[in-house]
Amino acid sequence: MRLGELAAILIDSVAHGASVNFLAGLTSEEAAEFWRSQIPGIVGGSRRLLAADDGAMLVGTVVLSFAHQPNAPHRAEIGKMLVRSHARRRGLGRRLLIAAEDAARAAGRTVLLLDTQTGSAGERLYSRCGWTAFGIVPDHALTPDGRLAPTTFFFKRM
Ligand SMILES: CC(C)(COP(=O)(O)OP(=O)(O)OC[C@H]1O[C@@H](n2cnc3c(N)ncnc32)[C@H](O)[C@@H]1OP(=O)(O)O)[C@@H](O)C(=O)NCCC(=O)NCCS
Repeated sequence: MRLGELAAILIDSVAHGASVNFLAGLTSEEAAEFWRSQIPGIVGGSRRLLAADDGAMLVGTVVLSFAHQPNAPHRAEIGKMLVRSHARRRGLGRRLLIAAEDAARAAGRTVLLLDTQTGSAGERLYSRCGWTAFGIVPDHALTPDGRLAPTTFFFKRM
């Protein structure tokens, strides 16, 4: 696993204001530790990591997490949908998201969920890709610089 490059993508997103569970000042060690924590799930098959490589470095990620509950064998969540700031607005996010949806479909997961900061680039990406917003929770999470912000929840049926 290319932990250093994955950590760099996460740090870049947080540094550019993305609300992706972390606060400003995220260190390389903390970011690498997050990705390290994903390894058991990936190895065990409860999670898939898809990454975009431009030939020089990893420039994007998306994580597909399969619901483990006995009554949810058809459900999965999408997270860590990240594209490095220098590579944005070229269709990479859309391609990663479609690849994650395809992987979910191939695994028999037909109801997908995700959430993102209201008004973010992520919200626009998901709307453009046919996801349905089903609610906004005010003050759901802190932005990297510590302000409470709303989160929009989305679903998509495969
Ligand atoms: C969200 C993110 C992954 C989008 O990646 P991207 O590679 O720039 O997205 P794309 O170029 O594939 O754009 C996909 C669609 O979203 C729209 N979009 C993406 N970013 C946008 C922005 N900043 N403003 C307006 N529209 C935007 C595009 O217009 C495009 O729609 P179109 O093809 O119909 O024109 C990227 O901005 C990012 O990493 N942001 C920080 C992390 C984050 O917030 N992730 C989501 C939280 S889970």
